[in-house]
Amino acid sequence: SIGLRALAGMYAIGSVVQYVGAITSLVDNLTAFVYTCAGLKTNCQYLAQFYEFLDLPDIKYKGSLTTEKRIDNHYEIEFHNVSFKYPGTDTYALKNFDLKLRVGQRLAVVGMNGSGKTTMIKLLCRLYDPTEGEITLNGINIKKYDYAEYMDLFAVVFQDFKLFALPLGQNVAAAAQVDQERAALCLEKAGFGKRLQGFSQGLDTCLYKEFDKEGVEVSGGEAQKIALARALYKDAPIIVLDEPTAALDPIAESEVYAKFNEIVKAKTAVYISHRLSSCRFCDDIAVFHEGRLVQRGNHEQLLGEKGSKYEELWNAQAQYYQ
Ligand SMILES: Nc1ncnc2c1ncn2[C@@H]1O[C@H](COP(=O)(O)OP(=O)(O)OP(=O)(O)O)[C@@H](O)[C@H]1O
Ligand SMILES: [Mg+2]
Repeated sequence: SIGLRALAGMYAIGSVVQYVGAITSLVDNLTAFVYTCAGLKTNCQYLAQFYEFLDLPDIKYKGSLTTEKRIDNHYEIEFHNVSFKYPGTDTYALKNFDLKLRVGQRLAVVGMNGSGKTTMIKLLCRLYDPTEGEITLNGINIKKYDYAEYMDLFAVVFQDFKLFALPLGQNVAAAAQVDQERAALCLEKAGFGKRLQGFSQGLDTCLYKEFDKEGVEVSGGEAQKIALARALYKDAPIIVLDEPTAALDPIAESEVYAKFNEIVKAKTAVYISHRLSSCRFCDDIAVFHEGRLVQRGNHEQLLGEKGSKYEELWNAQAQYYQ
């Protein structure tokens, strides 16, 4: 009827259009306002949780000792009678555990699921502190060192490593500033070279599609190569790889092993693997069982110990290779 009255000349057409437009836009904006309020309420709940997290007390002992800067990379790590229970559990994940990492040498760690391999790495990185016993670096409890400086000594690839939806180069450098040449070299060493050449944007290629429609999806094995490259890029004196080749195809795996000597050079290296056939070439193998170190030696020595855990693990896998 407003339209009719407008036609009759009571209101100007222009005003009618203007008012209708204003009312529609008011309704739209009111709706949006209500939605925003609802969103605000939900997001505040997340924020509350986030602040709660930030407010958690930092119970980790904070050391302040600086680590010695050594050109010869003589950083000696030793576990002394370490026992550890995860918070809130009452079984030991590691029990009376002694282990010395020999400087500049490679140690392979094998053992069944849940035998404490990853736990050892977590303690080494001070994600947890031992329940009993101590871990030392050059004779001094690792708790006493400044944490950031201490961690500078390690390049670690965890079993459950994460890559970010950021450019490939930044993933390798773990920083916004990327030394392009070095990143490319590390990717090459980790067996990602060919794939990198296929990227039109090279190291600037974004991983995953969350933030960039042009982003590339990488397979599990490719992700593992990138994680390995990240560890190499850090170029720390001690390199720790938890299941570094689990997702690699046999050819990529043998390439990584072939290059491993060159990759780690004079570094102290620890690598955990379920493939005994690939640890076989390591002259120092540690066998974990139920949170304890049960055997240590080279392949022949360990296999020579009749009725041992290593023999059992080896035979279980070896039957597939005959
Ligand atoms: N966050 C945790 N909280 C409680 N218990 C845990 C936690 N992580 C591991 N455990 C327990 O500690 C024990 C050792 O686990 P760990 O991850 O060290 O084994 P692993 O040797 O690395 O095994 P896998 O070969 O499967 O990687 C297991 O019994 C496991 O259930
Ligand atoms: Mg593990």
